[in-house]
Amino acid sequence: MTDPKEGFIVIIGSGLIGRSWAMVFASGGFRVKLYDIIQEQVTAALEDIRKQMDELAKAGMLRGSLSADQQISLISGSSDLKTALEGTIFIQECVPENLELKLKIFSDLDAHVNNTAIISSSTSCLSPAKMFNGLRHVKNCIVAHPVNPPYYVPLVELVPHPQTDPVTVEKTYHLMKKIGQSPVKLMKETDGFVLNRLQYAVISEAWRLVQDGVITPRDVDIVMSEGLGMRYAFLGPLETAHLNAEGFKSYCERYGEGIQRVLNTFGPVPNFSGDVAKKIDEALWDDQPDKSNQLKTRREWRDACLSHLAKLKKEMKKE
Ligand code: NAI
Repeated sequence: MTDPKEGFIVIIGSGLIGRSWAMVFASGGFRVKLYDIIQEQVTAALEDIRKQMDELAKAGMLRGSLSADQQISLISGSSDLKTALEGTIFIQECVPENLELKLKIFSDLDAHVNNTAIISSSTSCLSPAKMFNGLRHVKNCIVAHPVNPPYYVPLVELVPHPQTDPVTVEKTYHLMKKIGQSPVKLMKETDGFVLNRLQYAVISEAWRLVQDGVITPRDVDIVMSEGLGMRYAFLGPLETAHLNAEGFKSYCERYGEGIQRVLNTFGPVPNFSGDVAKKIDEALWDDQPDKSNQLKTRREWRDACLSHLAKLKKEMKKE
């Protein structure tokens, strides 16, 4: 467990991402306060966390070196913001993706927080410049964008406001490392940050390939899961290229012209509606009548796969 003198981590919003962050911080030995405006929501979140941790422990997939009971005992709930903020060193905001709501939360936090606590947002795509502008504690503000589910996927994108103190970036970076996440630092903000920009490039080309009748939706997913994804779980696109030739420069010399030729055939940005959307949607549902069950079963399978992959990646790093 961390030294209690280190203070509390406060999670604002106890939904999907807030719960997961609470579990990740507790797995790193931190004391966590989970705050939500609705008390019933906090109670339900604490129950859900206990259930999840017990199941993870049974499956041998619990993160960290503490037992499930020890980790659960580190997490408490609150529906009073002022009390929740007492003794906090780091606040992770996880309320719904709505700029007005986030602005209200940050203004409340700005009024009550001490001068050293870091205020971090989980936002997927809202601009730090817009969210943190004019705050008294802007130097302590940062985006720490997780990937769903953060318990299994460790990447965290750190995105500063132009006035964020570099010390805030460094402290957040080291805290993320300490709890077993894999942070990356963006030097400045860009719309969609980095993960989603890369993801959208892939989604739009998948769409165009289906639209042009080149491949079926199911097969385009196999190209990723059985092909590119096999490498990308371990290596990024740049190092993949580096290893596929005698270094990255050699890769560019060998393949650059061909890559440019293919890229010049890419079509316009899709409108993400109409017949192609319908075709992909139909292909992804299986024939079973209970569609909600399909999503639940596939999500559980996805999480089990990710958790095994995380274990494998850890083992491979040791070598
Ligand atoms: P959610 O809807 O599951 O949870 C939001 C929680 O915030 C609810 O418990 C709600 O009661 C609470 N809340 C609403 N107003 C509040 C207030 N004024 N004060 C305190 N709590 C309040 O949302 P989710 O999916 O957890 O998303 C949270 C944030 O994380 C969003 O910014 C989202 O973009 C980001 N995110 C979500 C990912 C995802 O896949 N769901 C992935 C990465 C980031």
